[in-house]
Amino acid sequence: MNLYLDTANVEEIRELSWLVDGVTTNPSLVAREERPFSEVLREICATVRGPVSAEVVASDADGMVREARELAKVAANVVVKIPMTEAGMQAVQILSREGVRTNVTLVFSANQALLAAKCGATYVSPFVGRIDDAGGDGMGVVAEILPILRHYGFPTEVIVASVRHPGHVLQAALLGAHIATVPYGVLKKLFGHPLTDAGIARFLKDWQRVPKG
Ligand code: G3P
Repeated sequence: MNLYLDTANVEEIRELSWLVDGVTTNPSLVAREERPFSEVLREICATVRGPVSAEVVASDADGMVREARELAKVAANVVVKIPMTEAGMQAVQILSREGVRTNVTLVFSANQALLAAKCGATYVSPFVGRIDDAGGDGMGVVAEILPILRHYGFPTEVIVASVRHPGHVLQAALLGAHIATVPYGVLKKLFGHPLTDAGIARFLKDWQRVPKG
């Protein structure tokens, strides 16, 4: 399973660039940086080799396609993030024929993912945390999407997004999702286990009793 970092913070990306396979951003994450988007995007694309999702903000298909073509020129690893709307799917269909890679975002149901795949989306991003927040079963939606894509042989890959805790990453891996995009804080938690810390402390303590030659 590929792990992406869900952030627009270049420092976080630099620190974990040796590990992560890609990056996803969204307008809210970019706004936190208080820097021009084009500058931030260029830096991120130079920092990671893998795909970097950058989102359009137009709401009509023509506007999305125009923005997407500009974003795709920024770097070879840009993937254009398009919201899951009817206009968005028209844009995805056009961009897919042009060879522009897309990540359909704000996906909350398997039917939405099916439409995105049919329109040629490279990736679909179900927002598991937000589904859970609304009283639904985020990972259940992922569990529905994966066999649908497999059944029809769609090349579309699933990015499990809106990840809130390590349990989401574990469930994504168990379901065989292609990718999980994970906030910095959650990714750091994946390294740890209290028994690992306790084990290291005990080994170091015992090591002090070993006669020094
Ligand atoms: O990048 C999209 C997604 O991961 C947003 O997550 O936590 O704002 O629901 P969240």
